[in-house]
Amino acid sequence: MDAKQLAKETFENVVGKIAEKAAKLAEPPVPGAPAPEPPALEEPTEPREPLPPRPDQGAPAARTATGNDTGADPTTRAQHQAYLTTSTGARLPDTDHSLKAGERGPTLLQDHHLREKITHFDHERIPERVVHARGAGAHGVFVGYGTADTVCKAAFLGEGVETPTFVRFSTVLGSRGSMDTARDTRGFATKFYTTEGNFDLVGNNIPVFFIQDGIKFPDVIHAGKPHPDREIPQAQSAHDTFWDFVSLHTEAQHHTLWNMSDRGIPRSYRMMEGFGVHTFRVQNADGATSLVKFHWKPRLGVHSLTWEEAQLLGGLDPDFHRRDLYDAIESGAYPAWELGLQVFPDEEAQLFDGIDLLDPTKIVPEELAPVQPVGMMVLTANPTNFFAETEQVAFHVGHLVPGIDATDDPLVQARLFSYVDTQLTRLGGPNFNQIPVNRPHTEVNDMLRDGFHQHAVHTGVAPYRPNSLDGGCPFHADGDLEGVFEHLPAKVAAGT
Ligand code: HEM
Repeated sequence: MDAKQLAKETFENVVGKIAEKAAKLAEPPVPGAPAPEPPALEEPTEPREPLPPRPDQGAPAARTATGNDTGADPTTRAQHQAYLTTSTGARLPDTDHSLKAGERGPTLLQDHHLREKITHFDHERIPERVVHARGAGAHGVFVGYGTADTVCKAAFLGEGVETPTFVRFSTVLGSRGSMDTARDTRGFATKFYTTEGNFDLVGNNIPVFFIQDGIKFPDVIHAGKPHPDREIPQAQSAHDTFWDFVSLHTEAQHHTLWNMSDRGIPRSYRMMEGFGVHTFRVQNADGATSLVKFHWKPRLGVHSLTWEEAQLLGGLDPDFHRRDLYDAIESGAYPAWELGLQVFPDEEAQLFDGIDLLDPTKIVPEELAPVQPVGMMVLTANPTNFFAETEQVAFHVGHLVPGIDATDDPLVQARLFSYVDTQLTRLGGPNFNQIPVNRPHTEVNDMLRDGFHQHAVHTGVAPYRPNSLDGGCPFHADGDLEGVFEHLPAKVAAGT
């Protein structure tokens, strides 16, 4: 079967399944309705169970903090009580009046409910991402065509293999509340919950980057962010500090031209390409390696806004791209992308047709190395809770699976450090991979222990290797290395 036929069948298969699910709903969803059932005209006073999530919403799978399948309905993680309680489950008669000495006060410190309510509220905010703060997410499914088998053994690329995904689209420069239609690069980050561990493809909608070496990332971002004295302009790339930097830094010109082209103001997240940007090293089942670049091709084609449209929309509806994504999914118009690979021989020089494959400021024209389709992703559900899912999702270019590895591209090398480092602060400690949206769908046995917000309750006494007290567990993979992640060796050029 050719790739086109496979793509068509895959899309129809996924959409068919979702349509079946939708048909089982008692009433068809009304796009844009704020709640799953119409509100009563009278003020609700009779206690009743909370409403279920809306039909367009999905949630992270019900895995334990250690990746085990609980088999539970993911909504059991939500609050389900008809009655108000404290955070430790004691039922409360009133949350409208603080406890006072006498009728007028003062308020008593003894009121633990008041203190708990105010204290928790005081700590509701976490730092926004240092870049890509403004974003929108969705759940989806990826289906492999099997066409990548010749170059990559990763299980999720196998023919007909279905892998759940979570995608976050973003702008780079603006704050969390900035407008969607700003002229900027867009992030396109995908978490694949594969049977071999999580694989994150943390890409952009532009195939090149401003800099060749990650050590310059703080410089380009400082230049692109609002001016430090007056903190303007918000979410804009074309301004004095940005022009100052890129005019003095010629390797930024390629990305700058893409930014200033129509690609800088997409019509919709559903109508953007995605690019892994870096070259990755992949390995097939026979051990042969190749170099590849990842591409997402939107089923709806690539479309842009005009500058005037973007400006007007920024004022009229700063949430334009978010709303477009949510509304499309809610109404069953599921966005889809085909994943493709540009494949290059893994030679010592790491060049293709004279183009340096380790230089992220260069593209390899698709006329020279055509993008070969390897699978299709369809986004099928909106998040149930923005903070829990879209805000707490933690992508990392180092989340790799057997058969895929990074290269010596000095930009990706810096990224391999940066993501975990920033997430330690952003998500408040080292256990953020235990947050539901980040949990892998495979068993975890990492010997990492303790730390803030530890959710796992580990057994045993010997979280170290070698040990005899815990029967020697956990063991290294040995013998059959199928499904085992190994760094793919590459020759390092001799120094001069
Ligand atoms: C050395 C260069 C780079 C560094 C140091 C860097 C660093 C970062 C940091 C610190 C974040 C915030 C992560 C978080 O708080 O969870 C981030 C987000 C992101 N970066 Fe990079 N980045 C670099 C280059 C790139 C490149 C080349 C791409 C695209 C190929 C990219 C795509 C993204 C995306 C899509 C996000 C948002 C992820 C999300 O939606 O949560 N970055 N980056």
